[in-house]
Amino acid sequence: MNLSRLTEALDYRTGKLSRNRVLLDSIDSTNNLALRLVRLFFDRGTSPPITVVVALRQHSGRGRLGRPWVSPPGQGAYLSVIVGTNGPEDLASLPLLVGVGLCQKISEISGGPCSLKWPNDLMVEGRKIGGILIDCVSRGAVGTAAVIGIGINYGRSQALSEVGGIAMDEIVGDLPGLPEVIAEFLMALEEELAHIGDIPYAAGRYRELSAHRYGDTLQYRTEEGMRRGTFSGFDERGFLILQSTEGKIRLSAGEVIEEWTEERHDS
Ligand code: BTN
Repeated sequence: MNLSRLTEALDYRTGKLSRNRVLLDSIDSTNNLALRLVRLFFDRGTSPPITVVVALRQHSGRGRLGRPWVSPPGQGAYLSVIVGTNGPEDLASLPLLVGVGLCQKISEISGGPCSLKWPNDLMVEGRKIGGILIDCVSRGAVGTAAVIGIGINYGRSQALSEVGGIAMDEIVGDLPGLPEVIAEFLMALEEELAHIGDIPYAAGRYRELSAHRYGDTLQYRTEEGMRRGTFSGFDERGFLILQSTEGKIRLSAGEVIEEWTEERHDS
């Protein structure tokens, strides 16, 4: 992939979401650059417009929980989208909507079912194909903006084999080019972001694509350490419900959860 092919694909396929865009050969992290842009706008007393940042590679890509996101050129979609938000409903619906849009698009392109592991891991055949990292900046009366970071594995790489992930080119033979796939992801996002703030819609769509089954044991982080609970569905606000020894726990999409495996904790 090169920048002119990416420009062409975005010009041809995407709508208003990618009208303001920054396309780069290489960057530390598209989320870091997007955060810098948001702060520049806020420093001038204005909210940033919807802006897309795409890089062909990242040398310090960030994953959730401070993990690195290894981003070799040509092997992944690495992008961030700046979105202004108005209130807690927008922020609560955002991770759910982004997960839903990308998950559906991965299924559509790859023909294999993609599901969502709470809060926003994109899973195919039980392996992670992509992830979402949302950073927020709030500047008092000026506003609040979210930076939606998206990393999707397009091609198999050494780094991916080491973490047991899966790439799109492993599940579909005639995969479109990476620029076209990125454009498709942006179109899917634009469609779902039209529902920002609509929590019943976001929660309902998320529930349909959830990888979790009633009775699955999941773990969550507390100040005292990790705790276990049993998956008991989602509430109407899109919070995940866990039944634990401390009673019913509700987790928002901003909170951490992982599958519980005996060998990781009891050995
Ligand atoms: C996760 O840990 O599952 C989230 C991974 C998010 C990675 C993407 S790649 C583009 C954007 N820039 C970053 O530094 N991280 C996100």
